[in-house]
Amino acid sequence: RKPWTVPMLRAAKADGRKLAMLTCYDAGFAHAVEAAGIDLVLIGDSLGMVVQGHGSTLPVTVDDIAYHTACVARGLQTALLVADMPFQSDASPTRALDAATRFLQAGAGMVKIEGAGPKLEVIRYLVAREIPVCAHLGLTPQSVLRLGGYRVQGRDEAAAAKLLDDARAVADAGAELLVLECVPSAVASSISAALDIPTIGIGAGPQCDGQVLVLHDMLGLAGGQRRPKFVKDFLAEGGSVVGAMQAFAAAVREGSFPGPEHSYA
Ligand code: KIV
Ligand code: NA
Repeated sequence: RKPWTVPMLRAAKADGRKLAMLTCYDAGFAHAVEAAGIDLVLIGDSLGMVVQGHGSTLPVTVDDIAYHTACVARGLQTALLVADMPFQSDASPTRALDAATRFLQAGAGMVKIEGAGPKLEVIRYLVAREIPVCAHLGLTPQSVLRLGGYRVQGRDEAAAAKLLDDARAVADAGAELLVLECVPSAVASSISAALDIPTIGIGAGPQCDGQVLVLHDMLGLAGGQRRPKFVKDFLAEGGSVVGAMQAFAAAVREGSFPGPEHSYA
């Protein structure tokens, strides 16, 4: 396999090749991700919950993401590594540049930023300075205090229209990838059709250009937390960690995951 590069993402979408992405936090799982042929790896700030045991992603720091990015990068050969910008590390362009530079120097190929609005300026600033950006819209977990919980976004017509506007805006600002989290399938479908950068869904239905799951969730390690509807335990059918990852990638590529039972109408 050829190592993934940023320009290959748009090409994959143009060819109709679906992208399989998983979160990953250490070298051991990075080796498994490579063995399974996963396309993209996310150093998610979900590590605040699944690795550190917090109740949200807000306590995660730039040092935390830099550490886990370096750990994962040592185990990767071909997957494209995306590092999450943790809470408020992207509050201003210069702050974001400092954090993103650390992540790229630790081995990331791209950074992920939640939201549009004031983040559009940050995306433009990073892209102009040679830092590839993945956007993230819909349910943005760093907004949990304002939202009051984790729920599906873009349900009514006005909210769906706003999501489509924001998706166009982040792509215009230079984002090369867009994660859509917890949005109705039809909304994610029209956003995916409107953009030429790939969309990666999590709880966003089967029409996205790729899918992402949190590693612990797809291995059935969600712990005490209630399991969200969009999660599937692939370990049950995969039989091993690498097998679970292979089953996930195969299901994403053939379009059988997510099914209606993992999606929001
Ligand atoms: O932190 C994370 O794992 C994420 C994914 C759920 C997209 O942002
Ligand atoms: Na995240």
